[in-house]
Amino acid sequence: MDIVNSEKNIDILAIESSCDETAVAVVRNGREVLSNIISSQIDIHTIYGGVVPEIASRKHIENIDFVIKEALNKAGKTFDDIDAIAVTYGPGLVGALLVGVAEAKAMAFALSKPLIGVHHIEGHISANYIDNKELEPPFLCLVISGGHTHLAIVRDYGEYELIGKTRDDAVGEAFDKVARSIGLGYPGGPKIDKLAKEGNPDAINFPRASVADSKYDFSFSGLKSAVLNYINTCEMKNIKINEADIAASFQKAVVDVLVSHTMEAAKEYGFDKIAIAGGVAANSAIRGAFMDICKEKNISFYSPSIIMCTDNGAMIGSAAYYEYLKGNVSKYDLNAIPNLKLGEREKQ
Ligand code: KG4
Ligand code: ZN
Repeated sequence: MDIVNSEKNIDILAIESSCDETAVAVVRNGREVLSNIISSQIDIHTIYGGVVPEIASRKHIENIDFVIKEALNKAGKTFDDIDAIAVTYGPGLVGALLVGVAEAKAMAFALSKPLIGVHHIEGHISANYIDNKELEPPFLCLVISGGHTHLAIVRDYGEYELIGKTRDDAVGEAFDKVARSIGLGYPGGPKIDKLAKEGNPDAINFPRASVADSKYDFSFSGLKSAVLNYINTCEMKNIKINEADIAASFQKAVVDVLVSHTMEAAKEYGFDKIAIAGGVAANSAIRGAFMDICKEKNISFYSPSIIMCTDNGAMIGSAAYYEYLKGNVSKYDLNAIPNLKLGEREKQ
């Protein structure tokens, strides 16, 4: 199949259903978003205090056809105008991934269009290309989401070297658990972000963990436990806790670790371009801290817009475009891989 024709605009319809958002976008040439429809299930999962996988899959099935139709309508396109169908095939919740993968395979097969399976984290990283038109690899990228905390070297489009990752909780998970412990609902990240603005980040000295045998790995479970211990101790001593101070001090501990690891790696590997990605990259303190230090060190700092940080279809369409240019299309028997590693593509 000769799919690369640089004269023509390439419009990719991209599906993301790895967790609790049913999202579909139409993206032109990897960087221009023609439509980006996100149907969030947050309201239903909030009742249970977190994502319930069975409910997520069921809601994806109910929503996906409508979201695809909306994405095409908003872009002013029909199926005939679409050059390829892209879909997140891992990592994520297997039942949730399967809904998007089955839909994408059926469409690609019925329409005789190329199918492109995309790694979810590769999508998060590629969200930076949408909002920063001048950004090109190589650069260093910190990926911080609800399920992942990765420090990766982006060598080229689709080529990654993982130099650090979390040994336990993902940073978004820590945000969500700490939020729950101080009575904020799900998802906790944005709520901690907001409440922390009213608190003192130096009120409580929570630990900044490092991992002994790997300087770029992260660990957040100790920090999470330290917050829970602090709350329990206060309760036992009948001391009223200050939720805003806890939120601000916890967030400061997270920011310090993320910034120090990333800046150290930038120095060691000689990068003058740093990007952040993933849901937690929407955090105002994290964005602010990176902006300040990068300015001070004369490093270019990139982040996606807030809406592009959390799960969406446009980021998948962007990553897919660069795979398409390389002729990296998937077979029609593409399967969901819940624990897919970054930089690993399905067997062709
Ligand atoms: O990338 P994402 O949408 O889903 C995954 O791939 O995991 O990230 C969701 C995570 C949740 O843990 C949520 O609490 C966190 O991103 N998050 C934030 C903020 N907005 C979303 N964490 C901190 N501050 C925020 N403003
Ligand atoms: Zn995500």
